[in-house]
Amino acid sequence: MQGPGPRAVGAMVTELVCVSCGERVAAAPRHAMTCTTCGPDRGTLDYAYDLAALRRRWARPDAPGGLATWLPLLPLRDGGSLPRLAVGPTPLVDAPRLANHLGVGRILLKLDSFLPSLSLKDRASALAVAQAGEWGCPTIVAASTGNAASSLATLAAASGCRAVLLVPQDAPMGKLAQIALHGGILIPIQGTYDQAFDLSTEVAARQGWYIRSTAVNPVLAEGKKTAALETALQMSWDVDDAWFVGVGDGCIFGALWKGLSELSAVGWIRKIPALMGVQAEGAAPLAQAWEARANVVPWHATTTFADSIAVGHPRDWVKALRAARSSGGAIMAVPDTLISEAMTLMARHAGVLAEPAGAASVAGILAGVDCGRLGRSDRVVAMVTGHGLKDAASLRRTFVMPTPVPPTLEAVIAAAPHDEERSRG
Ligand SMILES: Cc1ncc(COP(=O)(O)O)c(C=O)c1O
Ligand SMILES: [Zn+2]
Repeated sequence: MQGPGPRAVGAMVTELVCVSCGERVAAAPRHAMTCTTCGPDRGTLDYAYDLAALRRRWARPDAPGGLATWLPLLPLRDGGSLPRLAVGPTPLVDAPRLANHLGVGRILLKLDSFLPSLSLKDRASALAVAQAGEWGCPTIVAASTGNAASSLATLAAASGCRAVLLVPQDAPMGKLAQIALHGGILIPIQGTYDQAFDLSTEVAARQGWYIRSTAVNPVLAEGKKTAALETALQMSWDVDDAWFVGVGDGCIFGALWKGLSELSAVGWIRKIPALMGVQAEGAAPLAQAWEARANVVPWHATTTFADSIAVGHPRDWVKALRAARSSGGAIMAVPDTLISEAMTLMARHAGVLAEPAGAASVAGILAGVDCGRLGRSDRVVAMVTGHGLKDAASLRRTFVMPTPVPPTLEAVIAAAPHDEERSRG
């Protein structure tokens, strides 16, 4: 498709718009990242596109082809700046045994745990690396609970730019190892993710580095929304009743809604599914705000084993609340025990290994079934946002290590149950 003519950023981008006051920002290279009137907490920006032109002139693709499929809805000059490491498409799999076990009609699992760094964050990092390249910024800095940083290190390695990563020192070892092995400059912070976040914005301003911390760079949501675009395409544009996803800062959740609402505006889907955000009870400021129909009040401390969503001060709260409201969805909180149960059930009944934040979506479905809101007539989508092997310590909590046996045939036969005794649940 040809755009209406060359523009500074992305052929179909018209401007950026503040989510709180509606102020418009020109979409020039190195444009402002947040609204100067509202500030970085409330004044996050949305890229706006010429959706009317896209509606007239963009042919609906019928097979997913990775990020480049969505270039007309991305703020890049062209696809040439995207990393060569393929970021999607990822499988959308039907999980009938899991659905049957849980008592719902259908569950589709979107396996973004299969992206190059094993989390959905690669969709955002790819866009950040591409935009930083187009803007001539050689260094990218990010604060992260672990996945965004390991993702940025991965894609920066593929593209040859410098990545500086601020993560809590107690982030899972798998994620720290990814950062270090890919050559990222790993700065473990003796503090929380929320502290690392504030530091990243300060150091970016001081050093003139490109920032890939969530929410305060609008391009990240553009990358994450491709998970929604791709899922809708894989569902032949007939999207199901409710989509579930784990929520920390709220960026993924808000981005799914943005993608779906753009698909609706170009006329490719008829309805937007209810978006269900799932937080861990020990880190649930967004669920609390949703319940109270109020603005978010940051928590000073979080307690959950779901490290990726252990966020006390959600940075994308305005967009997250908008996504729940506009889609007729909600943001809920579930206990860690339910997340752990979801991890086990996904592994046993779907063959899918998810880290806790990646299993939070299915924990939300479990909670919906438990309280009678979901049943056999419901068809749902669960986003699996991170792979289980990224966080071996959390996996270790979900199973009992069998007692080692002597290396004899008798001991092995005694340790394995007979076929007929094996549960097929
Ligand atoms: C695996 C995984 N799931 C979910 C989330 C939540 O995303 P957000 O912080 O955008 O709400 C994250 C964020 O780090 C993550 O790594
Ligand atoms: Zn504003």
